[in-house]
Amino acid sequence: IQLPTPSTPIHSATVSAPTNIACIKYWGKASSHYNTPINDSLSLTLDQADLRAVTTASCCKCFTEDKLWLNGKEVQMNASTLKRFRACVDGIRALASDKVDDITHQIVVTRSEWETMPVHIASYNNFPTAAGLASSAAGYAALVASLVALYDAREEYPGQFSAIARQGSGSACRSLYGGFVAWRAGGEREDWSDSIAEPVVDEMHWEEIRAVILVVSNKEKETSSTKGMETSVTTSRLLEYRAKHVVPQRMKEIEKAIQEKDFESFGKVTMMDSNQFHATCLDTYPPIFYMNDVSKSVVTMVHVYNEWAEEIRAAYTFDAGPNAVLYTLEKYQVELLALVLRYYPEVGEGYVNNSELRKEAMEFALEAGLVEAVEKRCRVRDIGDVKMVYCTKGGPGPQTLGDQCSLFEFV
Ligand code: DP6
Repeated sequence: IQLPTPSTPIHSATVSAPTNIACIKYWGKASSHYNTPINDSLSLTLDQADLRAVTTASCCKCFTEDKLWLNGKEVQMNASTLKRFRACVDGIRALASDKVDDITHQIVVTRSEWETMPVHIASYNNFPTAAGLASSAAGYAALVASLVALYDAREEYPGQFSAIARQGSGSACRSLYGGFVAWRAGGEREDWSDSIAEPVVDEMHWEEIRAVILVVSNKEKETSSTKGMETSVTTSRLLEYRAKHVVPQRMKEIEKAIQEKDFESFGKVTMMDSNQFHATCLDTYPPIFYMNDVSKSVVTMVHVYNEWAEEIRAAYTFDAGPNAVLYTLEKYQVELLALVLRYYPEVGEGYVNNSELRKEAMEFALEAGLVEAVEKRCRVRDIGDVKMVYCTKGGPGPQTLGDQCSLFEFV
C-alpha cells in the first residue's frame, strides 16, 4: 500500500444525514436510467438524534481505487450498487471547487485534480439496516452530503444535489432537506434535471409533529423497492391511475394541511395514501405483500383510537415492509405510546428508544372507554410481534461533523 505523504495528503469530510418517511408515496419509475418517479411524493425528515447515517468521504492520490465500507465491513459492489455509487461520486465531483488552504490562501487542490484521487467511503447507521427503516435514503443522502463537504461542491441550480442523490436511491433526495419535503417528479426537461426535492416547510414550522415507529418482525424476505416498482409499473393499472388522477390532488391537500398545521386532513391523506400504495402492490401481478398481520392490527388499533377520540390523533403509514410509522402530535404522543405498549408488549430492555417517554407512557392511565373500545376489536399481540419502538420527531437536513468524527478510525 502507498501511504499518504506531505505531498499526497488525505482529504476527508464527515457528515450525518437523516432518514425520511413519506406521507405521499413514491412508487413507480418513469425512467429507470435516471431513477425518476411517475408521481410527486412528500415526506417528513426525521430527527438525526434518533436515526441517522454517518459517512466519512476521503480521497488521496495514494489510494489505488474507490472503496466502500458499510458498518465497518468493506462492500463488494454489484452492478446496480456500482451504478448508484458512481452517479453520486461522479455527479458531485463534477461540481467540485478548488481547495484553498485556510491560512496561506493558496490553492492546494485544483478542481480537476480531485478526479485523480480515488475515494474511500465509510458509512455507519445507528439503527439496524435489517429493521427496514429507510436506510438507503439516509445512506445515499449521507454519501452525497459527505462528497459535497469533501469537494466543497456548489450547485448550478437549486436542487441539483438532490437530483444526484435521487440517482443513488429515489427517496434519498428528500433526505437532503429538513422538515416536510416534496420530491417534484419533473419530466419537462429531457435530462430529468427537474426531478428534484424541494423543502415545503422546515422542521420548526410544525414542531408538534411526532413519529412513533413500530419495528415489526419480518422473517420472510421482502421484494426490494426497485424490483417491486418495476413489476407494479408494468402490471398495475391502478398504479397508473393513482399517478395520473390521485396523487396531484393529494399533494395539494397535504401541502395545505401542513401549511395550516391541520392534523385532521394531514392524517387522513397520509393514511389513505399508504393504503393506496399497498393496494397498488396487491394490484401488481404477481401481487406483492409488504404489510403483514401485525401491520394490519396496527391499522385497526389506530382507527379504533381515532374513532374513540372523534378526531384523528394518530395516522399510520407503511413503506415497502411491515413496519408501522405512526404520526401524531406532541400532546397525544404519550397516550399513543401507552396504547402501543399495552397491545404490543415490551420484549425487554431498550424496547422503546426513549426511556423518559417510556416511563411516562407506562404510568399513563388510558381512559376506560378507549381500553374498552380497543379490547372489542384488537387482541394483545404476542411478545416479539413488535421488536422495537422508536419515538422521534421532525429534524433538519444533513449536518457536517468535525474531523474528529472520521469513521476511518473504525474500519
Ligand atoms: C415505499 O427510494 O428505496 O419507501 O429509488 O429504487 O432506491 P429506489 O427506491 P426507494 O423507494 C422508496 C419507496 C417507499 C416510498 C417512499 O419513500 O416514498
